[in-house]
Amino acid sequence: MAANQDSEDPEEEIPFENEIDGLLARLTLKEKVGQLNQLNGSEQTGPAVEDVDLEDEIRNGKVGSVLNADGLENRERYQRIAVEETEHGVPLLFGYDVIHGFRTLSPIPLGEAASWDPDAVRASANVAAAEASASGIHWTFGPPVDVARDARWGRSMETSGEDPYLAGELAAARVRGFQGDDLTAADTVLACAKHYAAYGEVKAGREYNTVDISESTLRDIHLPPFEAAVTEGVGTVMNAFTVFEGIPAGASKRLVRDVLKDEWAFDGFVVSDWNSFREFIYHGVAGDERDAAELAIEAGSDMDMVGHIYTNELVNLVEDGTIDEALVDDAVRRVLRSKYRLGLFEDPYRYFDDERRKETVLNETHREIVRDVARKSIVLMKNERDVLPLDDVDSIAVVGALADSADDVLGDWRGCGRPEDAVSVLDGIEGTVDNAEVRYAQGCDRSGMVSATLREEAIETVEETDVAVVAVGESYELSGEASSRSDIDLPGEQQELLEALQATGTPVVAVLMNGRPLALPWLSENVPAILETWFLGTEAGDAIADVLFGNHQPSGRLPMSFPQTVGQVPIHYNHLPTGRPQHRAEAGWGTSYLDIPNDPLYAFGHGLSYTTFEYADLELGALTIKMNEPLSIGLTVENIGDVVGTEVVQVYIHDLVGSRARPVKELKRFRKLELEPGERREVTFEIESDDLAFWTADEVFAAEPGEFDVMIGHASDDIRLTDSFELRA
Ligand code: NOJ
Repeated sequence: MAANQDSEDPEEEIPFENEIDGLLARLTLKEKVGQLNQLNGSEQTGPAVEDVDLEDEIRNGKVGSVLNADGLENRERYQRIAVEETEHGVPLLFGYDVIHGFRTLSPIPLGEAASWDPDAVRASANVAAAEASASGIHWTFGPPVDVARDARWGRSMETSGEDPYLAGELAAARVRGFQGDDLTAADTVLACAKHYAAYGEVKAGREYNTVDISESTLRDIHLPPFEAAVTEGVGTVMNAFTVFEGIPAGASKRLVRDVLKDEWAFDGFVVSDWNSFREFIYHGVAGDERDAAELAIEAGSDMDMVGHIYTNELVNLVEDGTIDEALVDDAVRRVLRSKYRLGLFEDPYRYFDDERRKETVLNETHREIVRDVARKSIVLMKNERDVLPLDDVDSIAVVGALADSADDVLGDWRGCGRPEDAVSVLDGIEGTVDNAEVRYAQGCDRSGMVSATLREEAIETVEETDVAVVAVGESYELSGEASSRSDIDLPGEQQELLEALQATGTPVVAVLMNGRPLALPWLSENVPAILETWFLGTEAGDAIADVLFGNHQPSGRLPMSFPQTVGQVPIHYNHLPTGRPQHRAEAGWGTSYLDIPNDPLYAFGHGLSYTTFEYADLELGALTIKMNEPLSIGLTVENIGDVVGTEVVQVYIHDLVGSRARPVKELKRFRKLELEPGERREVTFEIESDDLAFWTADEVFAAEPGEFDVMIGHASDDIRLTDSFELRA
């Protein structure tokens, strides 16, 4: 969809604008406001709101969109009412949270981000779009493109982690996967970049809490993934619940109208979050609903999700001259534009085809695609004594309630995903091995609690087997919306269970499931092998078995730092230097804690393989470049082990002197390479001066002349090659 290219050439005729002009002229003010109103179908994805008769409201021309409408039949019935029983027959837009799949689920977004594989991520979003579209959904409330900066925040699971560049690449990939090139195609839906903006900075990781950050953190860290989504043509954007500079995001004219709509020329529409216009009153920036409606429409927030604020107040606000009707017209124009782009005026029923639904949903190809991205999302965090892969064992103990759960592997925001479609770890292992005995012991329940019986049984089972695969971590509902945790260690008594199993002398492989980074110092110190598997979706168990038994080489890399302890949070690799960096300060005066180290347990970009890679021959195309001149970066990577493996080459830079302090490292490029044993490959990257830009002290986004370090390696804490260059004005 050429959403934002439309406005580039004023001479070029913008598709549908004449039709929209005509329709706008025919709709009454009340009907126009109806287009800005979104009501809920059945499932509530937020606190209870005013109960209305949905069908009556549609019939009365008071609804432009419905979220959470249940089932294809209901959607079609509502659409028939809108099209056949209202004066102008404007079709409805059906929205749903298709976050990591509709029925066939991919890994949770944080997990999928660990694949560092935009093509796989695009393919998985496309599966989600095809299934949603075949089920009568036009619009997904995804991708979430928030940058997560605090592991306590439960919605870290919905993000692509802590880095704006990786998050931006994956935001663009997901928008491409959802929307494709043509919104009328059978396998596409309208996407929604959310939650605009800076939601990932809620104080102390507490859900919905205050956000209070600088303009440069906003511009350098939180806005880039939104801008990447807009550049890719995302059709809609959702407001964050949180405040920015004391103003709720949906009431922020600066965020919505100035930056999103004017600076970035976004021509889609902006939807509130669940009842978030009414929450302006609870934030204390609006005295009543009327104030809230005025703030929202002035700010440029176009559609009201379930709040009834626009339908209750906008007509009065226009009629008494408080707001200009042109504001309403612009908002309605944007909503109608999306409906035209989806082909809804051409055929409002094109999305209701039960045959297509049956052929599409949960088909074999979709299962294969999500299994592929699931395998790629697994991160081998530790592998001492080459415990993995399990290629020479006669018996395997599988332990943990999470290992036998086809429910938890689906993670939160599971759309229509069902446990009965999913493969648990135990099922995956049993289905893969043929020459080894597999014995299961529960060990602990889903919340990590261990009884004497469970413990004894698990110890006995592990004592009698060659290796123990122990699934530990969080049950799925410990992450997601309104699921922040103050402690991010292993819940319940899982560590005690692991200690007991470890004491048997049987090698233990910990299979982690979690929706956020956890603090696992004991595990990391004592258990020889750790596999991070997040919540991998429908094909989780098969994907995990693929990696455990070496049928797929682990290639995931962490998209978010894993702290040593919650006391280090927020912790991220791309922090600014302090005036007293540890290595330069005299003893006792460095930037540090008295009781814990500064470094994370596992750094951003970390992830092992079953082989080892060697980096060499770094060559920069020039030692000096001018503004707008590209710089080429060449190097070689060699697989020096004896199995095939996939490396993720990571390119970081450091701007040595800026008008504002610059991060110690910033990811600028990455590339995944599969190398045969002994294979050496040349890799070339190109960066431009735009890649060096940041929000300068002059309050503009620009690159500043000066020296830059280039650091290339295997992880943010495992840099293998360095050089530097100068940028000249
Ligand atoms: C609230 C969540 O914050 C948002 O992400 C979601 O899309 C809406 N509810 C609708 O379910």
